[in-house]
Amino acid sequence: MVISMAPLQGFTDAPFRNAFHRNIGGIDKFYTPFLRLENDGSLKSKYLKDILPENNSGIPVIPQILINNSKDFLFFAKIIADNGYPEVNWNLGCPYPMVSKRKLGSGLIPYPEEIKQILETVIPQTHLKISLKIRAGYQQADEIFPVLEAIKTLPIHEIILHPRIARQMYKGTANHEIFIHTQQQSVFKLAYNGDITTTTNFKFLQTKLTETNHFMIGRGLIANPFLGIEIKNGFSMPELEKRHLFYQFHQELLLHYEKVLSGESHQLNKMLGFWEYWSLLFSNGRKLYKTLKKSHKINQYKRLSSGFIQNEAFIN
Ligand SMILES: Cc1cc2nc3c(=O)[nH]c(=O)nc-3n(C[C@H](O)[C@H](O)[C@H](O)COP(=O)(O)O)c2cc1C
Repeated sequence: MVISMAPLQGFTDAPFRNAFHRNIGGIDKFYTPFLRLENDGSLKSKYLKDILPENNSGIPVIPQILINNSKDFLFFAKIIADNGYPEVNWNLGCPYPMVSKRKLGSGLIPYPEEIKQILETVIPQTHLKISLKIRAGYQQADEIFPVLEAIKTLPIHEIILHPRIARQMYKGTANHEIFIHTQQQSVFKLAYNGDITTTTNFKFLQTKLTETNHFMIGRGLIANPFLGIEIKNGFSMPELEKRHLFYQFHQELLLHYEKVLSGESHQLNKMLGFWEYWSLLFSNGRKLYKTLKKSHKINQYKRLSSGFIQNEAFIN
């Protein structure tokens, strides 16, 4: 069974992947947040930096791209191959209107022929394995079927399905029945993504999705970094060990963002972004998060966060 970390823009960049891989573990592959071109066709250096081998040393990483034509696909494919990666993941799921309105991400799902043409052009020109990350639809949950039909003879390495439609954004729940139905109709073996937050809900899902052996987890892994290990081990880690590892993980991230972000308010904002999820790890999490949000100085944040990680009760 494969457990992968979902791409989460603003969270799972190279420093996060490094700190996670070194201190926590339990994840078989990490997908990068999407790489994209600017409106003027340029590529920001932050995207390149995120996939440079020296910034991902020893970590199984799959770069993800957000494109809507074969020229841009091939542009990224060359960079990704030149940096030694064997696979590229194409984002066909991003639901944000700024993206989808430009026929990118989920905005391409209603255009199966365009998806097919892009793949047919790209496949003979790259040695990279190609995987897709897709939603069930843009407006409706049956829009994925014409896409799968159009590409069914192409050598796609893997399709990861997040069974929500784009219009939902992240509301409601991931629809297991849609996933099962899509798997039944598809010649491809699907990987599952969506709303895995506890070992109990993972086990339940596993009994339903009997053909699936790759589960991708996003927000659930930010909130509980130990979820991957606990799923793999089949039991919870001792709280003391979790505290120790989480502390190291936190310190590594903090040190990094103190170094690269200028100004305490940027550093605080970055760490508080994680705490929106990490608060779910603690029984008293909402209160701790509220207290942390009142920090005006990074030293105050450091003192509070260290105390919380070392002393506050974890949820099991
Ligand atoms: C803040 C945020 C950023 C995201 N960024 C990306 C991204 O760059 N690429 C992508 O394919 N999905 C992105 N997603 C979607 C996640 O990868 C994932 O599909 C979604 O969160 C559902 O999985 P989960 O319930 O396990 O989190 C993002 C989601 C969130 C909440």
